[in-house]
Amino acid sequence: MSETLQELQRRRTFAIISHPDAGKTTLTEKLLLFGGAIQLAGSVKGRKAARHATSDWMEMEKQRGISVTTSVMQFEHKDRIFNLLDTPGHEDFSEDTYRTLTAVDSALMVIDSAKGVEDRTIKLMEVCRLRDTPILTFINKLDREGREPIELLDEVESVLKIQCAPITWPIGMGKRFKGVYNLAEDAVHLFSPSHGDRIVEGEKIQGLDNPRLDEVLGDQADELRTEIELVQGASHTFDHAAYLAGKQTPVFFGSAINNFGVLDLLDAFADFAPGPQSRQARERTVEAEEEKFSGFVFKIQANMDPAHRDRIAFLRICSGKYTKGMKMHHVRIGKAVQIANAITFQADSRVNVEDAYAGDIIGLHNHGTIQVGDTFSQGETLKYEGVPYFAPELFRRVVLKDPLRAKALQKGLQQLTEEGATQLFKPLKNNDLILGAVGVLQFDVTAFRLKSEYNVECVYDNVSVTTARWVTCDDPKKLEEFKRKLFDNLAEDGSGYLVYLASSRVNLALAQERWPEVKFSATREL
Ligand code: G4P
Repeated sequence: MSETLQELQRRRTFAIISHPDAGKTTLTEKLLLFGGAIQLAGSVKGRKAARHATSDWMEMEKQRGISVTTSVMQFEHKDRIFNLLDTPGHEDFSEDTYRTLTAVDSALMVIDSAKGVEDRTIKLMEVCRLRDTPILTFINKLDREGREPIELLDEVESVLKIQCAPITWPIGMGKRFKGVYNLAEDAVHLFSPSHGDRIVEGEKIQGLDNPRLDEVLGDQADELRTEIELVQGASHTFDHAAYLAGKQTPVFFGSAINNFGVLDLLDAFADFAPGPQSRQARERTVEAEEEKFSGFVFKIQANMDPAHRDRIAFLRICSGKYTKGMKMHHVRIGKAVQIANAITFQADSRVNVEDAYAGDIIGLHNHGTIQVGDTFSQGETLKYEGVPYFAPELFRRVVLKDPLRAKALQKGLQQLTEEGATQLFKPLKNNDLILGAVGVLQFDVTAFRLKSEYNVECVYDNVSVTTARWVTCDDPKKLEEFKRKLFDNLAEDGSGYLVYLASSRVNLALAQERWPEVKFSATREL
């Protein structure tokens, strides 16, 4: 087997999806801890500590800088190399969060045992659905009182429409939390709380009938036996093919902050999760095993130094191998570019990569020529699909402070929105500029960058738009009629595509009902 093939088969590229506060940051730290990248775990903390200081512009810059280094985290376990792609949450939640999910081969879903399935998780899951991404589930915070595990699984199944196959099952919760029973191994793993970087392995007891269980669990031993019988009767058994097809999720219980349940999860992840998958380009399907290099850009992020308009374009390698100094073909602009200094995100500093393989992410220095969705190849004309724009959920009208700077504003908005964190809409009926985003922080970031990079000052007005849909119609005549009748609600996006701006969900539903021939899409391929 060639070295390239061996290396790519070790890769496991994934992201964590969760609602804020479910424990994503904590679990990330623990995965890195178990994966031996302890130093990096510290930097995750650092980022979290800074996350509320967004009103201070310098702080915001710093934070964005730090998040470049934590955007991709690499660690090793069981001879696998994991690439964990950060999906920004909280205030910096943006389209990048969604789009990052198009660059992974699987996802890890974290659920707070007291809260169950929450909003953000539902949205992120919808994005995973677009590519049937396999999902592993971790139910967190069992050291606290939470909801009944059976009830939680029911909720996942009914709300997220995915089968659950419990691999571990919790023994009690809160003060009575004693550990987990591993259904596949028929073994109990006792809970031993340990904070920070200390990993304490609790006792393992083989067999549900083992009298040792009664010694350590008392009454809870029989409770567990009855419950497991019930669970085995009522739930699905793990089916690897169904997991890989995105139809079933194996479920683990634990407490990330106590380092408990994380190793079970990581072991299973190393065993079950898919390696780099083949990927659809407009021209053909590209196999990860192909020798020639190819990849696509899924996000662009400002670098530490705002004085130089240097940004990092994050490229997911889909096939072949990157070697330092290699020539790549930038497909959209049809030019060959020499890449001498791509960066990777190993340990706690960014280092120049020598080699990287399918599944890995590399950072390219971008001086404005690279856009989200761009494909790079070794000469072939390829355009990777499935890097979509998502309909924004928040809208603001951009108001210029100095009317003489209108041109600079247009240019600035055009360039900033090309990076993909916000989108620009121009209503057909007037000259307004409407900015759309999925996270509220993106408005502040845009205003800040317009000022510092384009010397344009602007403020925002509220606008009565709550959601947007790209509209198309096979019948040109119908489309013309639609455009005439709903003129006031229509706009063009930054690339000139027609968009319906709805004032409310009800308004959207009505328009959809009245115009059955018109297709309303919540995503648009780049
Ligand atoms: P997020 O990235 O998904 O937003 O969640 P994060 O890891 O920041 O966790 C949110 C809160 O939940 C944190 O508390 C964290 O300590 C706590 N937490 C995470 N895992 C567990 C767990 O297994 N059990 C319990 N009981 N709590 C857990 P915080 O008070 O908001 O922050 P901090 O001051 O502890 O950092």
